Amino acid sequence: MTQPESSSAKNAGFNTRAVHAGQAFEPRTGAVVPPVHFSSTYAQDGIGGLRAGYEYGRGTNPTRDSLQEQLAALEGGAAAFSFGSGLAAEDSMIRALTRPGDHIVLGNDAYGGTYRLISRVLGEWGIGNTPVDMSDVDAVAKAVAAGGASSAAAGGKTRLVWVETPSNPMMKITDIEALAKVAHDAGALLVVDNTFASPYLQTPLAFGADVVVHSTTKYIGGHSDVVGGAIVVNDPELAEKIGFVQFAVGAVSGPMDAFLTTRGLKTLGVRMDRHSDNAQAVAEWLLERPEVEAVLYPGLPSHPGHELAKKQMKKFGGMISVQFKGGEAAARKVAESTSVFTLAESLGGIESLMNYPSEMTHASVKGTELAVPVNLVRLSCGIEDVEDLIADLEAALSALDAGS
Ligand SMILES: Cc1ncc(COP(=O)(O)O)c(C=O)c1O
Repeated sequence: MTQPESSSAKNAGFNTRAVHAGQAFEPRTGAVVPPVHFSSTYAQDGIGGLRAGYEYGRGTNPTRDSLQEQLAALEGGAAAFSFGSGLAAEDSMIRALTRPGDHIVLGNDAYGGTYRLISRVLGEWGIGNTPVDMSDVDAVAKAVAAGGASSAAAGGKTRLVWVETPSNPMMKITDIEALAKVAHDAGALLVVDNTFASPYLQTPLAFGADVVVHSTTKYIGGHSDVVGGAIVVNDPELAEKIGFVQFAVGAVSGPMDAFLTTRGLKTLGVRMDRHSDNAQAVAEWLLERPEVEAVLYPGLPSHPGHELAKKQMKKFGGMISVQFKGGEAAARKVAESTSVFTLAESLGGIESLMNYPSEMTHASVKGTELAVPVNLVRLSCGIEDVEDLIADLEAALSALDAGS
Protein backbone atom coordinates (compact mmCIF):
# COMPACT_ATOMS: atom_id res chain seq x y z
CA MET A 1 0.00 0.00 0.00
CA THR A 2 1.36 3.45 -0.82
CA GLN A 3 0.35 6.97 0.11
CA PRO A 4 -2.82 8.35 -1.50
CA GLU A 5 -2.12 9.66 -4.98
CA SER A 6 -3.61 13.08 -4.15
CA SER A 7 -1.22 13.91 -1.32
CA SER A 8 1.92 14.06 -3.46
CA ALA A 9 0.31 14.79 -6.82
CA LYS A 10 1.83 17.61 -8.87
CA ASN A 11 -1.23 19.80 -8.43
CA ALA A 12 -1.36 19.47 -4.62
CA GLY A 13 -0.36 22.59 -2.67
CA PHE A 14 3.26 23.24 -1.72
CA ASN A 15 2.92 22.26 1.94
CA THR A 16 1.00 19.10 1.06
CA ARG A 17 3.75 18.07 -1.33
CA ALA A 18 6.42 19.00 1.26
CA VAL A 19 4.84 16.71 3.85
CA HIS A 20 3.92 13.78 1.60
CA ALA A 21 6.08 13.58 -1.53
CA GLY A 22 8.45 10.63 -1.26
CA GLN A 23 7.13 9.84 2.23
CA ALA A 24 4.95 6.76 1.66
CA PHE A 25 4.41 4.93 4.94
CA GLU A 26 6.33 1.73 5.49
CA PRO A 27 4.17 -1.16 4.19
CA ARG A 28 5.37 -3.92 6.57
CA THR A 29 4.71 -2.08 9.87
CA GLY A 30 2.64 0.89 8.79
CA ALA A 31 5.25 3.29 10.28
CA VAL A 32 4.07 6.71 9.18
CA VAL A 33 7.62 8.07 9.01
CA PRO A 34 9.62 5.92 6.58
CA PRO A 35 12.52 4.24 8.39
CA VAL A 36 16.10 5.40 7.78
CA HIS A 37 17.84 2.78 5.66
CA PHE A 38 21.44 2.45 6.78
CA SER A 39 22.25 -0.76 4.94
CA SER A 40 25.11 -0.32 2.46
CA THR A 41 24.12 -3.43 0.47
CA TYR A 42 21.05 -5.50 -0.45
CA ALA A 43 20.45 -9.27 -0.60
CA GLN A 44 19.99 -10.72 -4.09
CA ASP A 45 17.69 -13.66 -4.92
CA GLY A 46 20.23 -15.25 -7.24
CA ILE A 47 22.80 -13.25 -9.19
CA GLY A 48 21.21 -10.01 -10.36
CA GLY A 49 17.95 -10.86 -8.55
CA LEU A 50 17.25 -7.54 -6.85
CA ARG A 51 14.13 -7.42 -4.67
CA ALA A 52 13.23 -3.76 -5.08
CA GLY A 53 15.90 -2.42 -7.42
CA TYR A 54 18.34 -1.70 -4.59
CA GLU A 55 21.85 -3.09 -4.94
CA TYR A 56 24.53 -0.91 -3.27
CA GLY A 57 24.31 2.31 -1.24
CA ARG A 58 26.46 4.57 -3.40
CA GLY A 59 24.16 3.95 -6.35
CA THR A 60 20.79 4.10 -4.63
CA ASN A 61 19.43 4.24 -1.10
CA PRO A 62 15.72 4.36 -0.16
CA THR A 63 16.15 7.26 2.30
CA ARG A 64 18.05 9.30 -0.30
CA ASP A 65 15.41 8.38 -2.89
CA SER A 66 12.67 9.74 -0.60
CA LEU A 67 14.50 13.05 -0.27
CA GLN A 68 15.14 13.24 -4.01
CA GLU A 69 11.47 12.64 -4.77
CA GLN A 70 10.48 15.32 -2.27
CA LEU A 71 12.99 17.83 -3.74
CA ALA A 72 11.83 17.19 -7.32
CA ALA A 73 8.18 17.60 -6.30
CA LEU A 74 8.87 20.94 -4.60
CA GLU A 75 11.05 22.45 -7.34
CA GLY A 76 8.65 21.22 -10.04
CA GLY A 77 11.43 19.14 -11.61
CA ALA A 78 11.45 15.66 -13.12
CA ALA A 79 14.52 14.48 -11.19
CA ALA A 80 16.57 15.51 -8.16
CA PHE A 81 19.96 14.35 -6.92
CA SER A 82 21.16 14.65 -3.35
CA PHE A 83 24.83 15.15 -2.44
CA GLY A 84 27.02 15.42 0.65
CA SER A 85 27.26 19.24 0.40
CA GLY A 86 26.21 22.09 -1.86
CA LEU A 87 29.70 22.26 -3.34
CA ALA A 88 29.77 18.49 -3.94
CA ALA A 89 26.48 18.91 -5.86
CA GLU A 90 27.93 21.79 -7.90
CA ASP A 91 31.13 19.88 -8.65
CA SER A 92 29.35 16.72 -9.84
CA MET A 93 26.88 18.73 -11.91
CA ILE A 94 29.63 20.78 -13.61
CA ARG A 95 31.61 17.61 -14.34
CA ALA A 96 28.48 16.07 -15.86
CA LEU A 97 27.61 19.05 -18.07
CA THR A 98 30.94 20.55 -19.16
CA ARG A 99 34.15 19.38 -20.83
CA PRO A 100 37.67 20.86 -20.75
CA GLY A 101 37.66 23.97 -22.91
CA ASP A 102 34.11 24.96 -21.92
CA HIS A 103 33.33 28.28 -20.27
CA ILE A 104 31.11 29.35 -17.37
CA VAL A 105 29.68 32.87 -17.01
CA LEU A 106 28.80 33.52 -13.36
CA GLY A 107 27.77 36.40 -11.11
CA ASN A 108 30.50 38.78 -10.00
CA ASP A 109 29.05 38.41 -6.50
CA ALA A 110 28.65 34.63 -6.57
CA TYR A 111 29.10 32.70 -3.32
CA GLY A 112 32.86 32.64 -2.67
CA GLY A 113 33.00 28.85 -2.42
CA THR A 114 31.32 28.47 -5.83
CA TYR A 115 33.85 30.83 -7.40
CA ARG A 116 36.73 29.00 -5.66
CA LEU A 117 35.46 25.66 -7.02
CA ILE A 118 35.01 26.97 -10.56
CA SER A 119 38.19 29.03 -10.76
CA ARG A 120 40.72 27.17 -8.60
CA VAL A 121 39.63 23.53 -8.86
CA LEU A 122 37.84 23.20 -12.21
CA GLY A 123 39.96 25.95 -13.76
CA GLU A 124 42.93 23.59 -13.43
CA TRP A 125 40.99 21.09 -15.56
CA GLY A 126 40.44 23.56 -18.38
CA ILE A 127 37.09 25.14 -17.45
CA GLY A 128 37.19 28.91 -18.00
CA ASN A 129 35.04 31.52 -16.29
CA THR A 130 33.93 35.14 -16.57
CA PRO A 131 32.39 36.88 -13.55
CA VAL A 132 29.81 39.50 -14.58
CA ASP A 133 27.00 41.58 -13.05
CA MET A 134 24.03 39.22 -13.53
CA SER A 135 21.49 41.99 -13.00
CA ASP A 136 22.81 43.59 -16.24
CA VAL A 137 21.27 41.37 -18.96
CA ASP A 138 23.22 43.04 -21.81
CA ALA A 139 26.53 42.55 -19.99
CA VAL A 140 25.68 38.87 -19.48
CA ALA A 141 24.77 38.43 -23.16
CA LYS A 142 28.13 39.94 -24.18
CA ALA A 143 30.10 37.73 -21.78
CA VAL A 144 28.19 34.64 -22.94
CA ALA A 145 28.88 35.43 -26.61
CA ALA A 146 32.56 36.14 -25.93
CA GLY A 147 33.00 32.86 -24.00
CA GLY A 148 36.64 32.13 -23.22
CA ALA A 149 37.77 35.04 -25.38
CA SER A 150 36.63 37.42 -22.62
CA SER A 151 38.92 36.05 -19.94
CA ALA A 152 42.54 35.21 -19.46
CA ALA A 153 41.58 31.77 -18.12
CA ALA A 154 41.28 28.74 -20.35
CA GLY A 155 37.87 28.23 -21.93
CA GLY A 156 35.99 28.46 -25.20
CA LYS A 157 32.25 28.19 -25.74
CA THR A 158 29.98 29.25 -22.88
CA ARG A 159 28.26 26.12 -21.64
CA LEU A 160 26.76 27.34 -18.33
CA VAL A 161 25.33 30.66 -17.18
CA TRP A 162 25.31 30.61 -13.39
CA VAL A 163 22.94 32.80 -11.40
CA GLU A 164 22.28 33.29 -7.69
CA THR A 165 19.09 35.22 -7.00
CA PRO A 166 18.97 36.71 -4.42
CA SER A 167 22.76 36.69 -4.51
CA ASN A 168 25.01 36.03 -1.52
CA PRO A 169 25.66 38.48 0.11
CA MET A 170 24.88 41.47 -2.16
CA MET A 171 21.20 40.46 -2.43
CA LYS A 172 21.00 41.30 -6.14
CA ILE A 173 17.95 40.05 -8.01
CA THR A 174 18.44 38.56 -11.46
CA ASP A 175 15.78 38.13 -14.13
CA ILE A 176 15.67 34.32 -14.52
CA GLU A 177 13.41 34.39 -17.59
CA ALA A 178 15.61 36.93 -19.43
CA LEU A 179 18.81 35.06 -18.64
CA ALA A 180 17.28 31.72 -19.67
CA LYS A 181 16.71 33.29 -23.09
CA VAL A 182 20.26 34.69 -23.22
CA ALA A 183 21.69 31.28 -22.31
CA HIS A 184 19.48 29.31 -24.68
CA ASP A 185 20.09 31.68 -27.62
CA ALA A 186 23.80 30.93 -27.20
CA GLY A 187 23.28 27.16 -26.84
CA ALA A 188 24.15 27.31 -23.12
CA LEU A 189 22.27 26.13 -20.03
CA LEU A 190 20.97 28.35 -17.24
CA VAL A 191 21.91 27.20 -13.74
CA VAL A 192 20.17 28.90 -10.81
CA ASP A 193 21.47 28.57 -7.26
CA ASN A 194 18.15 28.74 -5.38
CA THR A 195 19.66 28.45 -1.90
CA PHE A 196 18.61 31.90 -0.64
CA ALA A 197 15.02 31.71 -1.89
CA SER A 198 14.24 27.98 -1.47
CA PRO A 199 11.55 26.34 -3.63
CA TYR A 200 8.82 27.77 -1.41
CA LEU A 201 9.62 31.32 -2.55
CA GLN A 202 10.90 30.69 -6.07
CA THR A 203 10.91 27.85 -8.60
CA PRO A 204 13.50 28.72 -11.30
CA LEU A 205 12.59 25.80 -13.60
CA ALA A 206 9.18 27.42 -14.10
CA PHE A 207 10.97 30.56 -15.41
CA GLY A 208 13.05 28.59 -17.92
CA ALA A 209 16.14 27.60 -15.90
CA ASP A 210 17.66 24.24 -16.83
CA VAL A 211 19.34 23.33 -13.56
CA VAL A 212 18.57 24.26 -9.94
CA VAL A 213 21.34 24.05 -7.34
CA HIS A 214 20.88 24.02 -3.57
CA SER A 215 23.02 24.07 -0.53
CA THR A 216 20.41 22.08 1.43
CA THR A 217 22.53 22.94 4.48
CA LYS A 218 20.56 26.20 4.54
CA TYR A 219 16.77 26.71 4.39
CA ILE A 220 15.92 23.22 3.14
CA GLY A 221 17.56 21.44 6.09
CA GLY A 222 16.56 24.48 8.10
CA HIS A 223 17.94 23.59 11.54
CA SER A 224 21.72 24.04 11.17
CA ASP A 225 22.27 20.36 11.92
CA VAL A 226 23.06 18.84 8.51
CA VAL A 227 25.31 19.63 5.55
CA GLY A 228 24.02 18.72 2.08
CA GLY A 229 23.42 19.77 -1.49
CA ALA A 230 21.04 19.04 -4.34
CA ILE A 231 20.57 19.40 -8.08
CA VAL A 232 17.12 19.44 -9.71
CA VAL A 233 16.43 19.25 -13.46
CA ASN A 234 13.56 18.67 -15.87
CA ASP A 235 15.32 17.42 -18.97
CA PRO A 236 15.79 13.60 -18.99
CA GLU A 237 19.10 13.91 -20.86
CA LEU A 238 20.54 16.23 -18.18
CA ALA A 239 19.14 13.92 -15.49
CA GLU A 240 20.86 10.95 -17.05
CA LYS A 241 24.22 12.73 -17.19
CA ILE A 242 24.04 14.04 -13.62
CA GLY A 243 22.73 10.71 -12.30
CA PHE A 244 25.67 8.93 -13.90
CA VAL A 245 28.23 11.25 -12.25
CA GLN A 246 26.41 11.01 -8.90
CA PHE A 247 26.77 7.23 -9.13
CA ALA A 248 30.27 7.14 -10.64
CA VAL A 249 31.84 9.79 -8.36
CA GLY A 250 29.78 8.97 -5.27
CA ALA A 251 29.65 12.38 -3.52
CA VAL A 252 26.21 11.35 -2.21
CA SER A 253 24.42 12.28 1.01
CA GLY A 254 24.44 9.56 3.66
CA PRO A 255 21.16 8.08 4.99
CA MET A 256 21.07 10.07 8.25
CA ASP A 257 21.83 13.33 6.44
CA ALA A 258 19.15 12.57 3.85
CA PHE A 259 16.65 11.83 6.64
CA LEU A 260 17.41 15.07 8.53
CA THR A 261 17.08 17.04 5.31
CA THR A 262 13.74 15.41 4.53
CA ARG A 263 12.49 16.17 8.03
CA GLY A 264 13.50 19.82 7.66
CA LEU A 265 12.00 20.10 4.20
CA LYS A 266 8.55 19.09 5.46
CA THR A 267 8.23 22.41 7.34
CA LEU A 268 9.93 24.62 4.74
CA GLY A 269 6.82 26.61 3.82
CA VAL A 270 5.90 27.41 7.41
CA ARG A 271 9.46 28.45 8.21
CA MET A 272 9.95 30.57 5.07
CA ASP A 273 6.81 32.58 5.80
CA ARG A 274 8.14 33.39 9.24
CA HIS A 275 11.74 34.03 8.08
CA SER A 276 10.41 36.40 5.41
CA ASP A 277 8.03 38.27 7.73
CA ASN A 278 10.74 38.71 10.37
CA ALA A 279 13.30 39.89 7.79
CA GLN A 280 10.85 42.38 6.27
CA ALA A 281 10.25 43.96 9.70
CA VAL A 282 13.96 44.00 10.56
CA ALA A 283 14.87 45.53 7.16
CA GLU A 284 12.25 48.28 7.56
CA TRP A 285 13.57 49.02 11.06
CA LEU A 286 17.20 49.13 9.89
CA LEU A 287 16.29 51.54 7.10
CA GLU A 288 15.37 54.18 9.71
CA ARG A 289 18.63 53.91 11.66
CA PRO A 290 21.16 56.77 11.35
CA GLU A 291 24.15 54.37 11.62
CA VAL A 292 23.09 52.53 8.47
CA GLU A 293 24.39 53.45 5.00
CA ALA A 294 22.36 50.86 3.02
CA VAL A 295 19.94 48.00 3.64
CA LEU A 296 20.09 45.36 0.91
CA TYR A 297 16.75 43.53 1.07
CA PRO A 298 14.55 42.83 -1.98
CA GLY A 299 11.38 43.33 0.06
CA LEU A 300 12.11 47.07 0.33
CA PRO A 301 10.56 49.19 -2.44
CA SER A 302 13.91 51.05 -2.62
CA HIS A 303 15.74 47.85 -3.66
CA PRO A 304 16.56 47.98 -7.41
CA GLY A 305 15.30 44.40 -7.82
CA HIS A 306 12.06 44.84 -5.85
CA GLU A 307 9.64 44.68 -8.80
CA LEU A 308 11.46 41.74 -10.35
CA ALA A 309 11.53 39.94 -6.99
CA LYS A 310 7.75 40.47 -6.72
CA LYS A 311 7.39 38.79 -10.12
CA GLN A 312 9.53 35.73 -9.49
CA MET A 313 9.37 35.28 -5.70
CA LYS A 314 6.43 34.63 -3.38
CA LYS A 315 7.99 36.62 -0.50
CA PHE A 316 11.48 38.08 -0.10
CA GLY A 317 13.24 35.61 2.20
CA GLY A 318 15.11 35.80 5.49
CA MET A 319 18.45 37.26 4.36
CA ILE A 320 19.45 40.92 4.74
CA SER A 321 22.79 42.62 4.14
CA VAL A 322 23.52 45.91 5.90
CA GLN A 323 26.28 48.43 5.19
CA PHE A 324 27.36 50.83 7.93
CA LYS A 325 28.35 54.49 7.66
CA GLY A 326 31.06 53.84 10.25
CA GLY A 327 32.87 51.53 7.78
CA GLU A 328 34.73 48.36 8.65
CA ALA A 329 35.07 49.21 12.35
CA ALA A 330 31.31 49.67 12.78
CA ALA A 331 30.46 46.50 10.83
CA ARG A 332 32.91 44.43 12.86
CA LYS A 333 31.62 45.91 16.12
CA VAL A 334 27.98 45.11 15.30
CA ALA A 335 28.90 41.60 14.15
CA GLU A 336 30.61 40.92 17.47
CA SER A 337 28.08 42.47 19.83
CA THR A 338 24.69 40.80 19.31
CA SER A 339 23.37 37.99 21.46
CA VAL A 340 20.16 36.71 19.83
CA PHE A 341 21.95 36.84 16.45
CA THR A 342 24.87 34.41 16.79
CA LEU A 343 28.12 35.24 14.98
CA ALA A 344 28.59 32.19 12.74
CA GLU A 345 29.05 30.96 9.18
CA SER A 346 26.02 29.63 7.29
CA LEU A 347 22.40 30.76 7.11
CA GLY A 348 18.85 29.57 6.76
CA GLY A 349 18.43 27.88 10.14
CA ILE A 350 15.65 28.63 12.59
CA GLU A 351 18.10 30.58 14.76
CA SER A 352 19.25 34.05 13.71
CA LEU A 353 22.86 34.29 12.55
CA MET A 354 25.20 37.21 11.91
CA ASN A 355 28.07 36.99 9.45
CA TYR A 356 30.91 39.30 8.43
CA PRO A 357 31.34 38.00 4.85
CA SER A 358 34.60 39.67 3.88
CA GLU A 359 36.44 37.72 6.62
CA MET A 360 34.11 34.74 6.95
CA THR A 361 31.98 33.17 4.17
CA HIS A 362 33.64 35.20 1.40
CA ALA A 363 37.23 35.34 2.71
CA SER A 364 38.31 33.21 -0.25
CA VAL A 365 37.43 36.01 -2.72
CA LYS A 366 39.15 38.79 -0.78
CA GLY A 367 41.30 40.85 -3.14
CA THR A 368 39.42 39.63 -6.25
CA GLU A 369 36.66 41.40 -8.18
CA LEU A 370 34.18 39.34 -6.12
CA ALA A 371 35.40 40.87 -2.83
CA VAL A 372 32.62 41.90 -0.41
CA PRO A 373 32.58 45.48 0.99
CA VAL A 374 34.25 45.65 4.41
CA ASN A 375 31.40 47.72 5.90
CA LEU A 376 28.87 44.94 5.21
CA VAL A 377 27.26 42.55 7.68
CA ARG A 378 24.90 39.76 6.58
CA LEU A 379 21.93 38.77 8.72
CA SER A 380 20.08 35.48 8.53
CA CYS A 381 16.81 36.26 10.31
CA GLY A 382 15.55 33.23 12.20
CA ILE A 383 12.06 32.41 13.44
CA GLU A 384 12.44 33.93 16.92
CA ASP A 385 10.07 36.72 18.03
CA VAL A 386 10.83 39.71 15.85
CA GLU A 387 10.72 42.13 18.81
CA ASP A 388 13.69 40.24 20.29
CA LEU A 389 15.61 40.42 17.02
CA ILE A 390 15.07 44.17 16.80
CA ALA A 391 15.94 44.72 20.47
CA ASP A 392 19.18 42.80 19.94
CA LEU A 393 20.11 44.94 16.92
CA GLU A 394 19.04 48.10 18.71
CA ALA A 395 21.48 47.36 21.55
CA ALA A 396 24.30 46.65 19.08
CA LEU A 397 23.68 49.77 16.99
CA SER A 398 23.25 52.00 20.03
CA ALA A 399 26.67 50.89 21.25
CA LEU A 400 28.04 52.34 17.99
CA ASP A 401 26.37 55.66 18.79
CA ALA A 402 28.05 55.78 22.15
CA GLY A 403 31.37 55.09 20.44
CA SER A 404 32.06 52.21 22.80
C1 LIG B 1 24.44 30.39 -2.18
C2 LIG B 1 25.28 29.20 -1.78
N1 LIG B 1 25.51 28.23 -2.68
C3 LIG B 1 26.25 27.14 -2.38
C4 LIG B 1 26.84 27.00 -1.14
C5 LIG B 1 27.69 25.80 -0.84
O1 LIG B 1 27.01 24.89 -0.04
P1 LIG B 1 27.68 23.94 1.07
O2 LIG B 1 28.31 24.81 2.11
O3 LIG B 1 26.54 23.10 1.55
O4 LIG B 1 28.73 23.13 0.35
C6 LIG B 1 26.62 27.98 -0.16
C7 LIG B 1 27.23 27.85 1.16
O5 LIG B 1 27.23 28.78 1.95
C8 LIG B 1 25.82 29.11 -0.50
O6 LIG B 1 25.59 30.10 0.38
